[in-house]
Amino acid sequence: MIEKYFAKIKGTGRYVPEKILTNFDLEKMVDTSDEWIRTRTGMSERHIASESQAASDLAYEAALKAIEDANIKNKDIDMIICGTISGDHPFPSTACILQKKLGLKNFPAFDVSAGCTGWIYGANIAKQYVENGLAKNVLVIGVEILTKITNYQDRNTCVLFGDGAGATIISRAEPKDISRFIDTEISADGSHYDLLVQHAGGSRMPASQKTVEKNLHTVYMEGNKIFKLAIRSMYNACDIVLKRNNMDVKSIDWLITHQANLRIIQALGKKLKIDENKVIVNIEKYANTSAATIPIALDEAIRNNVIRHGDIVLLASFGAGLTSGSLLLRL
Ligand code: ACO
Repeated sequence: MIEKYFAKIKGTGRYVPEKILTNFDLEKMVDTSDEWIRTRTGMSERHIASESQAASDLAYEAALKAIEDANIKNKDIDMIICGTISGDHPFPSTACILQKKLGLKNFPAFDVSAGCTGWIYGANIAKQYVENGLAKNVLVIGVEILTKITNYQDRNTCVLFGDGAGATIISRAEPKDISRFIDTEISADGSHYDLLVQHAGGSRMPASQKTVEKNLHTVYMEGNKIFKLAIRSMYNACDIVLKRNNMDVKSIDWLITHQANLRIIQALGKKLKIDENKVIVNIEKYANTSAATIPIALDEAIRNNVIRHGDIVLLASFGAGLTSGSLLLRL
């Protein structure tokens, strides 16, 4: 019989590229304004990867910090999961490239394609492996360089994205440890897959001169249609884990949601009836780093001593697919 354990977050780390692109920089590139971007999205600036940086480079920096924070050695890791839709290559996985960078081999390493929900999907998978005793220290990363697949002539999308990586070590909790994952829920509604797509470069529309000329390798998004679905799907994901554990929103110390739009974050907070002071927001500095927003926000809040050991944290995301998910934990 498989013995059942608990999983917990043992360490966190983040990395964002040095270069910053402000709303004022964007004003010079497309027909937009700092005022529009701030009031419609809550964003002021975002970090942009250099020409030579790929997803695994950002993931590596974040991973080193998480490994140090968890007080483990590289060799203690026994699984790597990368939530990403902008990996180094269409294949192999960015997780395998990261495994090599960390000097590791002979254990599972794979990417999860769940858009902005990638890190929550990864944490959900890691939880199963740790709880069933099949893994002890899973490196789960959300990493994205969406700016390299962004059309900087399309004001509807190009103001929204930034680059970054957030890393977590999800480990087996000691029996007396109060830190643990309480519950997690992941879902998808593929009927809306076409609202957020990179049309070309896959088997549906292989790369050709025509696809490049028509900018079909960049993010296509119907933002205003996603807006309402985002609030509803994150609310459902939160509601499910709270109800399943007989918990009330009052027992939540902190809510961290995907940082795609300040208005979405605020609307979800309102729908959940959570005190707005308990909602973590950092969208102003990083914009939407897709799968990286939640682990970046988590790391930042822990390192700034905002979220502390023992706090109950509810995390929720949505993304391309359309995917959604939540994670309820005690830090
Ligand atoms: N600057 C100025 N005007 C703009 C800009 C801009 N950057 N972008 C759009 N507009 C204009 C539009 O052209 C439109 O003008 P019109 O009325 O003359 O036609 C007007 O602003 C309103 O456009 P909407 O799209 O209705 O604006 P909305 O308030 O919905 O905001 C936004 C757009 C920010 C994209 C919002 O809908 C949103 O955040 N949606 C969710 C996006 C999201 O979360 N995506 C999923 C995650 S990403 C991932 O998984 C990879």
